[in-house]
Amino acid sequence: MKFLRLLLGTCFLFTSGLLFAQTNISVNTSNSSTVISKHIYGHFAEHLGHCIYGGFYVGDTSKTIPNTNGVRNDIIDALRKLKIPNLRWPGGCFADTYHWKDGVGPKNKRPEMVNKWWGGVTEDNSFGTHDFLNMCELLGAEPYLAGNVGSGTVQELADWVQYVNFDGKSPMSDWRKQNGREKPWNVKFWGVGNEAWGCGGNMRPEYYADIYRKYATFMGGGLMQIASGANSADYHWTETLMSQIPLHMLGGVALHHYSVIDWNHKGPATDFSEQQYFATMKSACFMDSLVIKHSAIMDKYDPKKKVALVVDEWGGWYDVEAGTNPGFLYQQNTMRDAMIAGVTLNIFNNHADRVRVANLAQCINVLQAVILTDKEKMILTPTYHVLEMYNVHQNAKLLPVTIKTNDYVLGNDKLQAVWASASKDSLGATHISLVNIDSKKSQDITVNFDGAQFKTVSGRILTSAKLTDHNTFEQPDKLKPIAFNGANVKGSTVNVKLPPFSVVVLELK
Ligand code: AHR
Repeated sequence: MKFLRLLLGTCFLFTSGLLFAQTNISVNTSNSSTVISKHIYGHFAEHLGHCIYGGFYVGDTSKTIPNTNGVRNDIIDALRKLKIPNLRWPGGCFADTYHWKDGVGPKNKRPEMVNKWWGGVTEDNSFGTHDFLNMCELLGAEPYLAGNVGSGTVQELADWVQYVNFDGKSPMSDWRKQNGREKPWNVKFWGVGNEAWGCGGNMRPEYYADIYRKYATFMGGGLMQIASGANSADYHWTETLMSQIPLHMLGGVALHHYSVIDWNHKGPATDFSEQQYFATMKSACFMDSLVIKHSAIMDKYDPKKKVALVVDEWGGWYDVEAGTNPGFLYQQNTMRDAMIAGVTLNIFNNHADRVRVANLAQCINVLQAVILTDKEKMILTPTYHVLEMYNVHQNAKLLPVTIKTNDYVLGNDKLQAVWASASKDSLGATHISLVNIDSKKSQDITVNFDGAQFKTVSGRILTSAKLTDHNTFEQPDKLKPIAFNGANVKGSTVNVKLPPFSVVVLELK
């Protein structure tokens, strides 16, 4: 009897041990009514540091860097490969200081201004509306223009809409034609100010809601107008906008959330400790709760989910690299950033019914960039590679996932270790993106694709020897995705062994 009890106890411990060591993901393949908008994979280009000048734009007189109308060809190629769906411009905080009329017409006649938020540098307005919108055409990306509400006027923003979108005869469309562009660009995405609670004017949400209504009225219909949204967990902001702005005037409500350890002690971008890694990931994983809570507020006022949650600034934010201008926000990009990107994009995919536009901050040389440049050199960051691996989800049908996973434990704190999302594309291929954020432990994962039958699995992995690893101008390909052989499939079940701090995207057919 004693022996039997001992045996049963051992079996229980063994079984529970096994269960504990195993991550189970079940994928609902029959409920695929939500499409993952490609615009979740959007980017952001502000007049900040070397994002535009010395990043995208080298000027059409550059002899050393091949370019098209001043925009670097290597950057165009890399972003097209990424399938960049939209690009937000000209800010950020800069947007509420920007007067678009100073950035059109002959370049030698454009007035200068001071970029008061970002380093106090002189902006010569050489990269303006035509440059940006033509660049979007080269990239195959939809433009997302952020209008100046903080220091502009209603007339100025209404004129901008007319200048870029009006096909008939009008003062603004005539001026556009004089400046060399016959046909309108038909810009759909319009931000009505940026961070109205902060650099956009330090407004209260009640006041901003009224301001928004006024601007939206004179901008006209047929646009996707996006209200300046909450700072992270400011739920009162979302509640106020949703209750005070009529739904027919709202295309989207924004949300900004950065993965930051502590705004006063952000820590280094590359030489970080495990504690700093954990704290960053805690902030990144918090996006899940933010999206759920802001969406729940939106559901109260908009149960049919007409209004999109637009996460138009997200990403990791660290101390600037030594020796660089503190106002330029230039930081390196490691496997930690790959983890942030992998987790965040899985969160957005899984909430694609409400999150329909998002913009990583920022595209080139600023914050969690996908590209870094140094004169004629250019490198792709680990974040670039994650976005490229994940682009299979763009416009695919979301397959809802349920995840039971271990925790990534550090001291007394813990985080969900494995994050995933799945989709089925228009050609019938199923994809699942998996992230293991644990810095030390690999994860054995069993994925059950409820009702599906697969014959083959293939995939790629992004990982490295150390979390702090990154690409440099000397070693540009230290980190890049490689073929992944750690998955096998039998019918509807896929078994995967996911190494520590890795991102894997699998294709099943
Ligand atoms: O992305 C950098 C800045 O962060 C943006 O200009 C602003 O909107 C946010 O505070």
